Amino acid sequence: MSTLITNIAELMTQDADHRVLSDAAVVIEGERISWLGPAADAPAADEAVDAGGRALLPGWVDSHTHLIFAGDRTAEFEARMAGESYSAGGIAVTTGATRSTSDFDLTRLAMGRVAEAVAQGTTYLETKTGYGLDVENEARSARIASTIADEVTYLGAHLVPAGTDAEEYTDLVCGPMLAAVRPYVRWADVFCERGAFTEDQSRRVLKACKDAGLGLRVHGNQLGEGPGVRLAVEFGAASVDHVNYLSAADIDALAGSWSGWENGTATGSGTVTGTGSGATGQRGTVATCLPACDLSTRQPLAPGRELLDAGVQLALASNCNPGTSYTSSMAFCVTTAVLQMRLSVHEAVRAATYGGALALGRESGNDVDGERAVGSIAVGHRADLHLLNAPSATHLAYRPGIPLTHAVWRAGIAQPVR
Ligand code: NIG
Repeated sequence: MSTLITNIAELMTQDADHRVLSDAAVVIEGERISWLGPAADAPAADEAVDAGGRALLPGWVDSHTHLIFAGDRTAEFEARMAGESYSAGGIAVTTGATRSTSDFDLTRLAMGRVAEAVAQGTTYLETKTGYGLDVENEARSARIASTIADEVTYLGAHLVPAGTDAEEYTDLVCGPMLAAVRPYVRWADVFCERGAFTEDQSRRVLKACKDAGLGLRVHGNQLGEGPGVRLAVEFGAASVDHVNYLSAADIDALAGSWSGWENGTATGSGTVTGTGSGATGQRGTVATCLPACDLSTRQPLAPGRELLDAGVQLALASNCNPGTSYTSSMAFCVTTAVLQMRLSVHEAVRAATYGGALALGRESGNDVDGERAVGSIAVGHRADLHLLNAPSATHLAYRPGIPLTHAVWRAGIAQPVR
């Protein structure tokens, strides 16, 4: 079954050549993109969709969420808006509610959150454990996460439960808890921050998880300067997330991690062929900015402009969770990145699509092993597409707060958007 999407006013590919085409068309075949180029040259397909002069982007890749939870933290949010500051301790409130919720209800709640995200243009999504914090509940969270998300991260090292010795808990995270979650997860993460895990404890978690074959991510430099970024780069983590408080040395370390990475070069105008990835060399550590969280916790926005200017690869993610960022709106993150972090619209959309894919190691792929690239529009990539109800992506920032999702395809399948 093939579908031609034609009459696209602006096609923002976010491929290796950063190509933006006008008067374009795309063909989906099964779950993959099989053709894109000028609408006038489009081949015939089994069915046609008239985009009506709208803009087409890759679907959002949300590389940082915490969707496996029950309960709500409205009171904590209200207190924060009244002047209290955020502390990691609130995680315990959600842990209590999560532990006392059945598998069925926890799954139903998480599925509802995924559906909400997809209806707003998210087509690839990571989520974490981290509100179980004992062996049984972390394993349960990982198992449920593996049924609702594209990528699952083990975050047993989210908070040391009250009344538990931090070193003993770290032993648990590195031993029996890791073994229990291992069948369900591809990534591991640690909240390396004052009030959560120290540098030594974080180092132990990262080493144990790396030895277990997991890819690494770090929550770092959210509430103050600290060792998070440094550790992430040292361990070759795919991503360090939050990055609000960075020293010059942190920015240098992140930029240095990308020094061996080369993007492909433009191959001329017209029909785009090939995988569109075109990047080569040693991948570094993506800096993942979470602007909705920064606003909700009244932290300074992460220095996205400075990071990009230094040569760091950037991702934008929602950080959807009940404590610091109860939104799945990637459009809100893009809008904020443009209006407040001084990214261009193209840069912000890239960070929310290709950047997220890079942070999850899914930016490239091939037609052979079925591990299709996500986060950019190119032949052979997964057909994850987001049609805006606007003629250009600029409207995401120009019309803040207006719901602009018109249609979404996830792996080639049209999704409900209302
Ligand atoms: O990414 N920073 C740590 N973890 C979450 C917040 C978790 C919570 O407060 O429930 C975050 O912001």
